Amino acid sequence: MEYSEKVMDHFMNPRNVGEIEGASGIGTVGNAKCGDIMRVFLQIGEDGVIQDAKFKTFGCGAAVATSSMATELVKGKSIQEALEITNKTVMEALDGLPPVKIHCSCLAEEALHAALWDYAQKNSITIEGLTPPKEVHHDGNE
Ligand code: FES
Repeated sequence: MEYSEKVMDHFMNPRNVGEIEGASGIGTVGNAKCGDIMRVFLQIGEDGVIQDAKFKTFGCGAAVATSSMATELVKGKSIQEALEITNKTVMEALDGLPPVKIHCSCLAEEALHAALWDYAQKNSITIEGLTPPKEVHHDGNE
C-alpha cells in the first residue's frame, strides 16, 4: 500500500489534535466495520465563521491524516463553505488515498457534518443542505 507524502506527514504530525472547551459544535461518528471513532470540535463565531477546529481520532493512520487535513481546511471558512468540503476534497488535498482507505476519509466528512449539526441544534438554526448524522453503532450493524 502506497501513501502519499502528505498523508504520511499528516499522520506523523497531525494538526489540530485535541479538544475545544465549550466548543460551538461537537460531532462524533464511527465506522461500524473497522470500529474506528472520530470526534470533531468546532468553534464558530457569531459571524458564522469557523474560528478553530480540533479533533480526536481513535482510528487508523488514514483516519488521523484525513481528520488532520479536514480540520485544517475548515478553519476560516463559513458554514456553507465548510459543508462543501467532502471526503473527496480532503483526499485531493492529501494527494489521494489507497482505495481500501477511502472509507476513512468519509469518517472525516461525517464528523465535520455532525459537528455542524450539533452547532445548528444548540443554536436552533437550520443549515441548508445539512442532514442529521448517523448514530454511532458499536455492534457492527449499520
Ligand atoms: Fe477505520 Fe480507517 S480503517 S477509519
